[in-house]
Amino acid sequence: MGLLEGKVVVITGAGGGIGREHALAMAGEGAAIVVNDLGGARDGTGGGASMADETVDLIKQAGGEAVANYDNVATVEGGQGILRTALEAFEQVDVLVNNAGILRDKSFSNTTEDLWDPVIAVHLKGTYCVTHPVYNHMKERGAGGVIINTSSTSGLNGNFGQCNYGAAKAGIAGFSRCLAIEGKKYDIRVFVLAPVALTRLTEDLGGFGNDEMKERMNPAAVSPLVTYLASDLAKDMTGKTFFCGGGRIAEMKVVTNTGVTKSDASALWTPEEIAGHMKAGEILLPE
Ligand SMILES: NC(=O)c1ccc[n+]([C@@H]2O[C@H](COP(=O)([O-])OP(=O)(O)OC[C@H]3O[C@@H](n4cnc5c(N)ncnc54)[C@H](O)[C@@H]3O)[C@@H](O)[C@H]2O)c1
Repeated sequence: MGLLEGKVVVITGAGGGIGREHALAMAGEGAAIVVNDLGGARDGTGGGASMADETVDLIKQAGGEAVANYDNVATVEGGQGILRTALEAFEQVDVLVNNAGILRDKSFSNTTEDLWDPVIAVHLKGTYCVTHPVYNHMKERGAGGVIINTSSTSGLNGNFGQCNYGAAKAGIAGFSRCLAIEGKKYDIRVFVLAPVALTRLTEDLGGFGNDEMKERMNPAAVSPLVTYLASDLAKDMTGKTFFCGGGRIAEMKVVTNTGVTKSDASALWTPEEIAGHMKAGEILLPE
Protein backbone atom coordinates (compact mmCIF):
# COMPACT_ATOMS: atom_id res chain seq x y z
CA MET A 1 0.00 0.00 0.00
CA GLY A 2 1.27 3.49 -0.89
CA LEU A 3 2.19 5.96 1.84
CA LEU A 4 -0.55 8.39 0.71
CA GLU A 5 -3.31 5.93 -0.18
CA GLY A 6 -6.74 7.55 0.25
CA LYS A 7 -5.26 11.07 0.58
CA VAL A 8 -6.11 14.04 -1.64
CA VAL A 9 -3.17 16.33 -2.38
CA VAL A 10 -3.37 19.83 -3.91
CA ILE A 11 -0.14 21.08 -5.50
CA THR A 12 0.08 24.59 -6.92
CA GLY A 13 2.38 25.25 -9.88
CA ALA A 14 2.49 21.51 -10.60
CA GLY A 15 2.60 21.91 -14.38
CA GLY A 16 6.41 21.79 -14.48
CA GLY A 17 9.64 21.83 -12.50
CA ILE A 18 9.62 20.76 -8.85
CA GLY A 19 5.80 20.82 -8.56
CA ARG A 20 5.36 18.28 -11.35
CA GLU A 21 7.83 15.93 -9.63
CA HIS A 22 5.92 16.30 -6.33
CA ALA A 23 2.72 15.41 -8.21
CA LEU A 24 4.21 12.31 -9.85
CA ALA A 25 5.88 11.13 -6.63
CA MET A 26 2.79 11.57 -4.46
CA ALA A 27 0.47 10.01 -7.07
CA GLY A 28 2.92 7.09 -7.09
CA GLU A 29 2.24 6.71 -3.35
CA GLY A 30 -1.50 6.44 -4.01
CA ALA A 31 -2.68 10.05 -3.54
CA ALA A 32 -5.29 11.66 -5.79
CA ILE A 33 -3.71 14.90 -7.06
CA VAL A 34 -5.15 18.31 -7.88
CA VAL A 35 -2.65 19.72 -10.37
CA ASN A 36 -2.89 23.51 -10.32
CA ASP A 37 -0.94 25.57 -12.85
CA LEU A 38 -1.65 28.89 -14.52
CA GLY A 39 0.64 27.81 -17.37
CA GLY A 40 2.53 31.09 -17.75
CA ALA A 41 6.16 31.96 -18.44
CA ARG A 42 8.96 32.07 -15.86
CA ASP A 43 8.20 35.74 -15.11
CA GLY A 44 4.48 35.06 -14.63
CA THR A 45 3.29 36.47 -17.96
CA GLY A 46 0.85 34.53 -20.16
CA GLY A 47 -1.09 31.40 -19.28
CA GLY A 48 -2.73 28.28 -20.66
CA ALA A 49 -4.02 24.82 -19.81
CA SER A 50 -1.29 22.69 -21.40
CA MET A 51 1.18 22.53 -18.47
CA ALA A 52 -1.35 21.31 -15.89
CA ASP A 53 -2.95 18.98 -18.47
CA GLU A 54 0.43 17.39 -19.26
CA THR A 55 1.07 16.56 -15.60
CA VAL A 56 -2.44 15.10 -15.26
CA ASP A 57 -1.82 12.96 -18.39
CA LEU A 58 1.49 11.69 -16.99
CA ILE A 59 -0.17 10.70 -13.69
CA LYS A 60 -3.03 8.94 -15.48
CA GLN A 61 -0.64 7.11 -17.83
CA ALA A 62 1.10 5.74 -14.73
CA GLY A 63 -2.24 4.52 -13.40
CA GLY A 64 -2.84 7.35 -10.92
CA GLU A 65 -5.71 9.75 -10.27
CA ALA A 66 -5.53 13.49 -11.00
CA VAL A 67 -7.54 16.53 -12.00
CA ALA A 68 -6.31 19.83 -13.50
CA ASN A 69 -6.98 23.36 -12.28
CA TYR A 70 -5.77 26.50 -14.07
CA ASP A 71 -6.53 29.19 -11.46
CA ASN A 72 -4.17 32.00 -10.51
CA VAL A 73 -2.93 31.43 -6.93
CA ALA A 74 -2.43 35.18 -6.50
CA THR A 75 -6.15 35.92 -6.16
CA VAL A 76 -8.68 35.03 -3.46
CA GLU A 77 -11.03 33.71 -6.17
CA GLY A 78 -8.18 31.56 -7.52
CA GLY A 79 -7.59 29.99 -4.11
CA GLN A 80 -11.29 29.30 -3.67
CA GLY A 81 -11.43 27.85 -7.21
CA ILE A 82 -8.59 25.43 -6.41
CA LEU A 83 -10.44 24.14 -3.32
CA ARG A 84 -13.67 23.88 -5.37
CA THR A 85 -11.91 21.74 -8.01
CA ALA A 86 -10.59 19.45 -5.27
CA LEU A 87 -13.94 19.05 -3.54
CA GLU A 88 -15.84 18.47 -6.81
CA ALA A 89 -13.37 15.81 -7.93
CA PHE A 90 -12.35 14.13 -4.66
CA GLU A 91 -14.57 15.57 -1.86
CA GLN A 92 -11.71 16.45 0.53
CA VAL A 93 -8.19 17.84 0.84
CA ASP A 94 -5.61 16.19 3.10
CA VAL A 95 -2.42 17.85 1.89
CA LEU A 96 -1.62 21.23 0.31
CA VAL A 97 1.75 21.99 -1.26
CA ASN A 98 2.13 25.69 -2.08
CA ASN A 99 4.76 25.56 -4.81
CA ALA A 100 3.74 28.01 -7.58
CA GLY A 101 6.35 30.66 -8.25
CA ILE A 102 7.82 33.23 -10.62
CA LEU A 103 11.02 35.26 -10.80
CA ARG A 104 11.67 38.90 -11.73
CA ASP A 105 15.28 39.35 -10.57
CA LYS A 106 17.04 42.75 -10.48
CA SER A 107 19.52 44.39 -8.15
CA PHE A 108 17.56 46.45 -5.62
CA SER A 109 18.46 49.91 -6.96
CA ASN A 110 16.95 48.92 -10.31
CA THR A 111 13.86 47.21 -8.86
CA THR A 112 10.61 48.81 -9.99
CA GLU A 113 7.03 48.27 -8.80
CA ASP A 114 6.26 45.99 -11.76
CA LEU A 115 9.11 43.72 -10.61
CA TRP A 116 8.16 43.90 -6.92
CA ASP A 117 4.37 43.51 -6.83
CA PRO A 118 3.84 40.39 -9.01
CA VAL A 119 6.58 38.46 -7.17
CA ILE A 120 5.05 39.28 -3.77
CA ALA A 121 1.58 38.54 -5.19
CA VAL A 122 2.33 35.07 -6.55
CA HIS A 123 4.53 33.83 -3.69
CA LEU A 124 3.35 35.53 -0.50
CA LYS A 125 -0.24 36.52 -1.27
CA GLY A 126 -0.61 33.31 -3.33
CA THR A 127 0.33 31.25 -0.28
CA TYR A 128 -2.33 33.10 1.71
CA CYS A 129 -4.99 32.87 -1.02
CA VAL A 130 -4.75 29.08 -1.38
CA THR A 131 -3.98 28.22 2.23
CA HIS A 132 -6.89 30.19 3.71
CA PRO A 133 -9.78 28.22 2.14
CA VAL A 134 -7.91 24.90 2.35
CA TYR A 135 -6.96 25.40 6.03
CA ASN A 136 -10.56 26.24 6.91
CA HIS A 137 -11.75 23.16 5.00
CA MET A 138 -9.28 20.99 6.95
CA LYS A 139 -10.34 22.59 10.24
CA GLU A 140 -14.06 22.09 9.54
CA ARG A 141 -13.57 18.53 8.31
CA GLY A 142 -11.76 17.65 11.53
CA ALA A 143 -9.43 15.05 10.02
CA GLY A 144 -6.20 17.06 10.31
CA GLY A 145 -3.99 17.88 7.36
CA VAL A 146 -0.56 18.86 6.11
CA ILE A 147 0.46 22.18 4.51
CA ILE A 148 3.91 22.45 2.92
CA ASN A 149 4.97 25.95 1.87
CA THR A 150 7.83 26.55 -0.52
CA SER A 151 10.35 29.13 0.65
CA SER A 152 13.92 29.53 -0.57
CA THR A 153 17.45 29.99 0.69
CA SER A 154 17.17 33.40 -1.06
CA GLY A 155 14.66 34.43 1.59
CA LEU A 156 16.18 32.54 4.52
CA ASN A 157 19.87 33.32 3.86
CA GLY A 158 19.79 36.09 1.21
CA ASN A 159 20.86 36.26 -2.43
CA PHE A 160 22.06 39.00 -4.78
CA GLY A 161 19.40 40.43 -7.11
CA GLN A 162 16.45 38.82 -5.32
CA CYS A 163 15.24 41.38 -2.74
CA ASN A 164 11.65 41.05 -4.07
CA TYR A 165 11.72 37.24 -4.15
CA GLY A 166 13.65 37.00 -0.87
CA ALA A 167 11.10 39.24 0.87
CA ALA A 168 8.26 37.02 -0.34
CA LYS A 169 10.05 33.79 0.56
CA ALA A 170 11.01 35.00 4.06
CA GLY A 171 7.38 36.10 4.49
CA ILE A 172 6.23 32.59 3.60
CA ALA A 173 8.52 31.14 6.26
CA GLY A 174 7.22 33.54 8.93
CA PHE A 175 3.62 32.85 7.92
CA SER A 176 4.22 29.10 8.15
CA ARG A 177 5.80 29.26 11.61
CA CYS A 178 2.74 31.14 12.91
CA LEU A 179 0.28 28.81 11.16
CA ALA A 180 2.08 25.74 12.54
CA ILE A 181 1.33 27.04 16.06
CA GLU A 182 -2.36 27.68 15.25
CA GLY A 183 -2.74 24.41 13.35
CA LYS A 184 -1.63 22.19 16.26
CA LYS A 185 -5.11 22.41 17.80
CA TYR A 186 -6.60 20.83 14.66
CA ASP A 187 -3.77 18.38 13.87
CA ILE A 188 -2.86 20.46 10.81
CA ARG A 189 0.91 20.16 10.37
CA VAL A 190 2.78 22.96 8.58
CA PHE A 191 6.27 22.82 7.05
CA VAL A 192 8.61 25.11 5.14
CA LEU A 193 10.62 23.76 2.22
CA ALA A 194 13.74 25.47 0.84
CA PRO A 195 14.47 23.48 -2.32
CA VAL A 196 17.32 23.70 -4.78
CA ALA A 197 16.96 22.14 -8.23
CA LEU A 198 17.74 22.68 -11.86
CA THR A 199 14.51 23.98 -13.44
CA ARG A 200 13.53 26.78 -15.81
CA LEU A 201 13.79 29.14 -12.82
CA THR A 202 17.44 28.33 -12.18
CA GLU A 203 18.83 27.10 -15.53
CA ASP A 204 20.43 30.45 -16.42
CA LEU A 205 21.91 31.07 -12.96
CA GLY A 206 24.87 28.74 -13.55
CA GLY A 207 26.72 27.40 -10.55
CA PHE A 208 25.40 23.87 -10.89
CA GLY A 209 28.80 22.54 -11.93
CA ASN A 210 29.46 19.58 -14.23
CA ASP A 211 26.96 17.17 -15.81
CA GLU A 212 27.10 14.82 -12.82
CA MET A 213 26.20 17.70 -10.45
CA LYS A 214 23.43 18.82 -12.81
CA GLU A 215 22.01 15.29 -12.74
CA ARG A 216 22.01 15.34 -8.93
CA MET A 217 20.18 18.69 -8.99
CA ASN A 218 17.18 17.24 -10.82
CA PRO A 219 13.87 18.45 -9.33
CA ALA A 220 12.71 14.88 -8.60
CA ALA A 221 15.34 14.78 -5.83
CA VAL A 222 13.24 17.21 -3.76
CA SER A 223 9.96 15.26 -3.85
CA PRO A 224 10.74 12.31 -1.52
CA LEU A 225 11.09 14.75 1.42
CA VAL A 226 7.73 16.35 0.58
CA THR A 227 6.12 12.90 0.31
CA TYR A 228 7.60 11.96 3.69
CA LEU A 229 6.35 15.18 5.36
CA ALA A 230 2.87 14.66 3.90
CA SER A 231 2.70 11.07 5.14
CA ASP A 232 2.06 9.60 8.56
CA LEU A 233 5.79 8.85 8.80
CA ALA A 234 6.12 12.52 9.88
CA LYS A 235 2.91 12.66 11.91
CA ASP A 236 4.63 13.79 15.11
CA MET A 237 6.40 16.74 13.48
CA THR A 238 5.28 20.28 12.61
CA GLY A 239 6.66 23.81 12.16
CA LYS A 240 10.01 22.71 10.77
CA THR A 241 11.99 24.13 7.83
CA PHE A 242 14.01 21.87 5.57
CA PHE A 243 16.60 22.54 2.90
CA CYS A 244 16.48 19.89 0.17
CA GLY A 245 18.37 19.50 -3.09
CA GLY A 246 21.02 17.43 -4.83
CA GLY A 247 20.46 14.55 -2.43
CA ARG A 248 21.05 16.66 0.72
CA ILE A 249 18.34 17.19 3.34
CA ALA A 250 19.02 19.51 6.28
CA GLU A 251 16.97 21.34 8.89
CA MET A 252 17.18 25.15 8.84
CA LYS A 253 16.41 27.19 11.93
CA VAL A 254 16.35 30.75 13.24
CA VAL A 255 18.44 30.62 16.42
CA THR A 256 18.83 33.03 19.35
CA ASN A 257 21.87 32.55 21.58
CA THR A 258 22.02 33.26 25.32
CA GLY A 259 23.67 36.62 24.65
CA VAL A 260 24.36 38.93 27.58
CA THR A 261 21.80 40.48 29.92
CA LYS A 262 22.20 43.83 31.68
CA SER A 263 21.69 43.23 35.37
CA ASP A 264 20.74 46.85 36.24
CA ALA A 265 17.01 47.42 36.78
CA SER A 266 17.12 50.04 33.99
CA ALA A 267 18.16 47.36 31.43
CA LEU A 268 19.99 50.15 29.61
CA TRP A 269 23.36 49.43 28.01
CA THR A 270 25.69 52.14 26.83
CA PRO A 271 26.82 51.76 23.19
CA GLU A 272 30.42 51.45 24.47
CA GLU A 273 29.47 48.58 26.78
CA ILE A 274 27.74 46.85 23.85
CA ALA A 275 30.90 47.30 21.77
CA GLY A 276 32.89 45.63 24.56
CA HIS A 277 30.62 42.60 24.71
CA MET A 278 30.58 42.35 20.90
CA LYS A 279 34.38 42.33 20.88
CA ALA A 280 34.45 39.71 23.62
CA GLY A 281 32.27 37.45 21.42
CA GLU A 282 29.44 37.30 23.94
CA ILE A 283 26.61 38.48 21.67
CA LEU A 284 27.34 37.21 18.17
CA LEU A 285 26.62 33.65 17.13
CA PRO A 286 29.63 31.74 15.76
CA GLU A 287 30.04 32.34 11.98
N1 LIG B 1 14.46 25.64 -8.61
C1 LIG B 1 15.06 26.04 -7.48
O1 LIG B 1 16.29 25.86 -7.27
C2 LIG B 1 14.27 26.71 -6.40
C3 LIG B 1 14.97 27.24 -5.30
C4 LIG B 1 14.25 27.81 -4.27
C5 LIG B 1 12.86 27.87 -4.34
N2 LIG B 1 12.22 27.38 -5.44
C6 LIG B 1 10.77 27.48 -5.46
O2 LIG B 1 10.21 26.23 -5.84
C7 LIG B 1 8.95 26.46 -6.49
C8 LIG B 1 8.92 25.73 -7.82
O3 LIG B 1 9.88 26.33 -8.68
P1 LIG B 1 10.52 25.60 -9.96
O4 LIG B 1 11.97 25.79 -9.86
O5 LIG B 1 9.95 24.24 -10.12
O6 LIG B 1 10.03 26.57 -11.15
P2 LIG B 1 8.97 26.37 -12.33
O7 LIG B 1 8.88 27.66 -13.06
O8 LIG B 1 9.34 25.17 -13.13
O9 LIG B 1 7.61 26.05 -11.57
C9 LIG B 1 6.77 27.03 -11.07
C10 LIG B 1 5.36 26.73 -11.58
O10 LIG B 1 4.44 27.65 -11.00
C11 LIG B 1 3.49 28.01 -11.97
N3 LIG B 1 2.91 29.31 -11.62
C12 LIG B 1 3.53 30.52 -11.66
N4 LIG B 1 2.67 31.48 -11.28
C13 LIG B 1 1.49 30.87 -10.99
C14 LIG B 1 0.23 31.35 -10.53
N5 LIG B 1 0.04 32.65 -10.31
N6 LIG B 1 -0.76 30.46 -10.30
C15 LIG B 1 -0.55 29.13 -10.54
N7 LIG B 1 0.61 28.63 -11.00
C16 LIG B 1 1.63 29.49 -11.22
C17 LIG B 1 4.30 28.06 -13.27
O11 LIG B 1 3.47 27.98 -14.42
C18 LIG B 1 5.26 26.89 -13.10
O12 LIG B 1 4.77 25.70 -13.68
C19 LIG B 1 8.80 27.98 -6.60
O13 LIG B 1 8.04 28.46 -5.53
C20 LIG B 1 10.23 28.46 -6.47
O14 LIG B 1 10.29 29.81 -6.03
C21 LIG B 1 12.88 26.81 -6.46
